[in-house]
Amino acid sequence: MDARQLKIEAARVALSHVSDGMRLGIGTGTTAEEFVRLLAEKVATGLNIVGVPTSERTAALCLELGVPLSTLEETPELDLTIDGADEIGPELTLIKGGGGALLREKIVAAASARMIVIADRSKLVETLGRFPLPIEVNRFGLRATEIAIGKAASTLGLQGPLTLRMTAGVPFVTDGGHFILDASFGRIPDTRALSGALHAIPGVVEHGLFIGLASAAIVAGGDGIETVYAAR
Ligand code: A5P
Repeated sequence: MDARQLKIEAARVALSHVSDGMRLGIGTGTTAEEFVRLLAEKVATGLNIVGVPTSERTAALCLELGVPLSTLEETPELDLTIDGADEIGPELTLIKGGGGALLREKIVAAASARMIVIADRSKLVETLGRFPLPIEVNRFGLRATEIAIGKAASTLGLQGPLTLRMTAGVPFVTDGGHFILDASFGRIPDTRALSGALHAIPGVVEHGLFIGLASAAIVAGGDGIETVYAAR
């Protein structure tokens, strides 16, 4: 099975957790897009749901495929969010934000009673951090924020380059109008400590560590699909 097929299989299992009348958070990224395609087929045959997208990109795909959308203003409490991840670590702690949507993804996940992550097995890791940690920062004071992040990380024994994410030669701008610094710290043994240290920096809008948000992960591998539940 190729990588795309694995994503489709994980998305298909996630769809079995969706029932009529649900208020759904809809994630961002290539795996979440496969979920949107399958969801749209179900909607076309009568499934009644409303979705809150985690990015403009996901909103556009949902509109194109006829998935009914709402906003967190209209629908502030959601039943279930289905989203991808860049890494899935112990206790279903995640790194997200490779697609640049981490802020809205985290707001939507936090507004949901449950979050199910869909991924292929390559995303499972023993310790988070092989994938650079996306940190969404205010554009104002970028350099000062970068220095503050470096200092905060080094107090936790973490070091590594912070790279301003670029697209087509200019800084990537998130849906919220911010920049992203990708932090190559390597292994992050204490995610809670790093999360707290980053949140204490005024220029940091949000970071891509998702702690205590995912309730389950549906992970597709060549030998089948495994559902991992958070121990909560
Ligand atoms: C988007 O900002 C990310 O958090 C995605 O959920 C993550 O990058 C996974 O994307 P893929 O499904 O494309 O790997």
